[in-house]
Parts: sequence; C-alpha cells; structure tokens
Amino acid sequence: MNSDSKEPIARTSGPRHALDRRVEDRRTAIPVADETEVSPEWETRAAISAILDITLGHGSFRDQLREILDVVISVSWLKVADQGAIFVANSRNELILTVEHNLAPQLVDLCSKVRFGQCLCGKAAERKEILFKGCVDSDHDISFEGMQPHGHYSIPLMDHDNVLGAIVLYTADCHEPHQEEKYFMELLGLTLSSFILNRSLKCRAEVSKMRLQRAQEEMVQKLVAASEFKDKDTGTHIRRMSQFARVLAEELGLEPDQVALIESAAPMHDVGKVGIPDDVLLKTGRLTAEELAIMQQHPVIGGELLKGDHPLLQASREIALTHHERWDGKGYPKGLAGTDIPLFGRICSLVDVFDALTSVRPYKEAWSVERALGHIKDESGSSFEPRMVKAFESCLPEILKIKEFYDRLGGHNAPVGTRMHLLPVEQEYFQWNSSLEVGVDFVDLQHEYLVNLIDRMRWVVIRSETVEVAETLLDMNVYAEIHFREEEELMRDVGYPGFEAHCKQHEVFMQSVSTF
Ligand code: C2E
Ligand code: SIN
Ligand code: SIN
Ligand code: SIN
Ligand code: FE
Repeated sequence: MNSDSKEPIARTSGPRHALDRRVEDRRTAIPVADETEVSPEWETRAAISAILDITLGHGSFRDQLREILDVVISVSWLKVADQGAIFVANSRNELILTVEHNLAPQLVDLCSKVRFGQCLCGKAAERKEILFKGCVDSDHDISFEGMQPHGHYSIPLMDHDNVLGAIVLYTADCHEPHQEEKYFMELLGLTLSSFILNRSLKCRAEVSKMRLQRAQEEMVQKLVAASEFKDKDTGTHIRRMSQFARVLAEELGLEPDQVALIESAAPMHDVGKVGIPDDVLLKTGRLTAEELAIMQQHPVIGGELLKGDHPLLQASREIALTHHERWDGKGYPKGLAGTDIPLFGRICSLVDVFDALTSVRPYKEAWSVERALGHIKDESGSSFEPRMVKAFESCLPEILKIKEFYDRLGGHNAPVGTRMHLLPVEQEYFQWNSSLEVGVDFVDLQHEYLVNLIDRMRWVVIRSETVEVAETLLDMNVYAEIHFREEEELMRDVGYPGFEAHCKQHEVFMQSVSTF
C-alpha cells in the first residue's frame, strides 16, 4: 500500500497530526466508505476514543494532558485555532498553566498563574461555567503588546462544586459558535474533569500507600535495632546487605513491589542471632563443631520471631529461614535444594555472603572485592544458583557504589529503608564540588547527599510527578533529621563557635521541609 492512499484527512498540515495519526491507526481496523471525507461524527468519535486511549495509558500526567490538548485541537470541524492551554487549579484558588500549545511566549509568562476571577479562564473557574468570547474585550484582563485578535472558549473543569482546572481553546476573531460545538465543549470539560480527578485520587492513594510503607519500615528499624545492640557492625551489615538485595532483585527483573518488599524484609534476615549466646556470637576465633551447631539455629529462631500474616513479616520470615540454604542442598536448616529455596532466600544468601566476606568479622579479616567475587563464582552451582551469580556480576558496579557509600559513612547512621545513596538525576542543577567540602568525610558525604536530594526535588517538581515529589520530600525529612542531629552532636563535642546559630538554621530548614 502506498502511503498517499493511507492519508486519512485531506486538510491536515503542520502540527495538527495527533488525531490524524490516531485516526489512521484505527482506520486499518475499521473500513471507511469515503477515503477523502471524514464526517464530524466520525472525527468526534475518533477524538473521544483517542482521549480515552490516552487517559488509560501510562505516561506522566503532563504528557497525557498535552496529548489530549493536541487531539482536541486537531478536530477539524471544531474550527478551533492551533493553540490552547490546560490549567490545573491549586488549593489557593489559582489556575496553574500546566500544558500549552503554541501560546505566545509573552502569554505563557503572563498566564503561568491566574487567580480565579482574573482574565477569561479565571472567570470561568470563578463562575463555574463555560465562557465563550468571540473577540478580545474588556473581560480579557491579560494582554500584551502585539496580541493578535482572537476568540476563545474557557471551560472550567469541575468535580461537583470543586474547580479542578480549566481548558482554553482559541478560535478565529469574530467566530460564531454553533450548537454542536458547544455540546462538544461540554463533553470535553466532563471528560477532562474526570481524568484529572482520577489522576489526583490515584496519586493520593499512592502517597498514603507510601506513608504506610514508611511506617512499616520504621517498625522494622526498631526490630532490627533490637537485634543489633550487641555489636555495631551488624547494624551496618544489615543495611548494606538489604541495599545489595534490592539491586540484585532489580537486576533479576523483579516487579517494583517485590523489589521494595525484599529491601524492607532483608534487614531482618539475622534477627535470630538475638537468641545466640554472646560467647558464641562474639567469639574472635573459629567456632567449634558444637558452637557452630548453636550458631546454625539462628535461621530457625528468626523464623519463630517473625510470625504473622503481614506480607512484610512473611517475606522476612522466609528470608530469615532460608538465607543459609545452598543451591546444592548442603545448606541449613532444612537442606533445601534448587528452586525449592524461595527466590528471596536465594537472593539474600548471595548478598549476605558477599557482604560477610568483604567485611571485618570478629573471626575474620575483610577480603578484597576480587577475592570475594572469585569465591562467589567458584560457588556458582554449589552454594549459589548460577543465574544469580551472573546477575550479581552484571550489577556489581552498582553494588560497589553502595559499598563505597557505606565505607565512607563509617559507623555513622544510614537508616534502614532510606535509600541514602546518590540517585542519578537527569540534569544536575547544583553540582557538588570539592570547594564545598568541610573536610570531615561523613559530614561532606551527608551534604553531598542533600545536594543530590535537592536536584531530585527540583527535577521531580519540574515534571510535576506528585508521588515522586512526596517520596523525595520524605527522604529529605528523614535525611535532615539524621544529619542535623549528628552534626549538632559533633559541633557540641568540638565546641564549634557558631553552634547555637547553626542549630537554629537546621530548625528553620526542617520547618520549611515540613511545610513544603
Ligand atoms: P556471617 O559472619 O554474617 O557470615 C555469613 C556467611 O558468609 C557465612 O555463613 C558464610 O557462608 C560466609 N562467610 C563468612 N565468612 C567467611 C569466610 O571467611 N570464608 C568463607 N568461605 N565464607 C564465609 P555461615 O558460615 O553459615 O555462618 C553463619 C554465621 O555464623 C556467620 O554470619 C557468623 O556470625 C557465624 N560464624 C561462622 N563462622 C564463624 C567463626 O569461625 N567464628 C565466629 N565467631 N563466628 C562464625
Ligand atoms: C486566559 O484566560 O488567561 C487566557 C487568555 C488567553 O489565552 O488569551
Ligand atoms: C546542610 O547543608 O546540611 C544544611 C545546612 C548545614 O547543616 O550545613
Ligand atoms: C555529621 O554527620 O554531620 C556529624 C557526624 C556526627 O557527629 O556523628
Ligand atoms: Fe545469617
């Protein structure tokens, strides 16, 4: 088939192709009698189905709004100009320009935030009714030098009595609206309103789910704290090892909720060690056969401690019970082999051993990464599942980044459940550089993390992804608490002269984060 004969709508030129493309997609499935003429009914139906398609798809909120705007503008019978904007309302009765198409740059500036009651879109929001103006008159509060004459529709987007936003579509100057057009605008307003409402409800649900997850992580943190009172290294091991587990789980392609689950559950893998007497647990030399037998009860003790129906407890229990099983069936406590060992157990056994080998233990020195990796590869097919070893090798660079982070942190706090390592940001805004260093390694590291957080924050705000904003804010809150407390302790210890003033700064910072 040649491409000309597939061209669905004759009039199209320039950027008005969003609908055409979608219409074309559908035309392959639905035969149309006349190839050259597309009826208004057909076009309307195609537009509605395209909008439905967009709203049910993934994409970011802003991208979806942009696509919807493109589709609406490309409905040819509507006779709207190749221009438009969608505003989203905030809680202070302001409309925030969220997407626009072909607006004059001056207008984009002037309309970035429009009070209810101001200009046409603000008036539509205030009056809660669709406003049409065929030309620019005195109601048009916002104007600029050289503004072309035009008319527009301002359609408020409503949830019952609550204004969610507005959409503005342009028409030619002195345009006379007809009945179908008005009807379409009403439908469009209803469709967009329910889309925005859905999105915001979904975001709210995700944020509260995230809160819940944080609360659970806090609970885990307390439980882990109970198990690590005996030695400080165990605490760091637990945190680092669960980060490794997360990375390996991601590498294996687990679903995000499973990745989050293993990250939350892995810290409890050695909880059973609370039941092991100190003279065995903290022994500096090799264990005797008898002591080893005692030690090898820690998975079962952990399993006993972690009883419960909650998915987090179930995952933790599974990991506690199976992280010393071996692929060849020679592990303990049950001697399970192969895929009889739950996946989380197989993941945790590998990262647990890697961390134990590369760390100092009361009974051994730290091995080099090379030596540890060599050991792990040798154990492929005996201790470990071969697929697991391969995946571990692939994500080793990421693992080493985390290891380096904890090495630099020394014994200082990095909370369980806080992804306190530097996440990649797409555009660095505030570049960390050595001139910002204080010279105390862990202080600098924490500051560097803060800078990275600020970058992430800026980036997610730009893309207006509510869930990510909330998540980054939570990270920032947790971070600030830890960092400020530690820094204050340090300053008090060394008698830092600006101590009081600096504490005040921290307070102000914390307050502004909570308000945000
Ligand atoms: P852990 O120290 O966290 O070690 C976890 C696992 O890492 C060990 O499980 C073992 O598979 C691996 N691993 C650790 N160090 C070495 C090593 O030097 N060589 C090799 N090849 N593998 C190593 P495992 O053996 O079942 O031990 C479980 C726990 O029992 C250990 O947890 C540790 O708390 C304790 N433990 C094991 N061996 C000794 C020992 O000789 N002395 C003392 N004091 N404790 C030991
Ligand atoms: C608005 O009502 O603020 C938009 C005015 C315009 O786009 O011309
Ligand atoms: C920060 O950089 O952590 C905020 C101000 C300070 O504590 O230095
Ligand atoms: C800091 O991290 O800012 C100070 C560390 C400490 O006193 O523990
Ligand atoms: Fe263990």
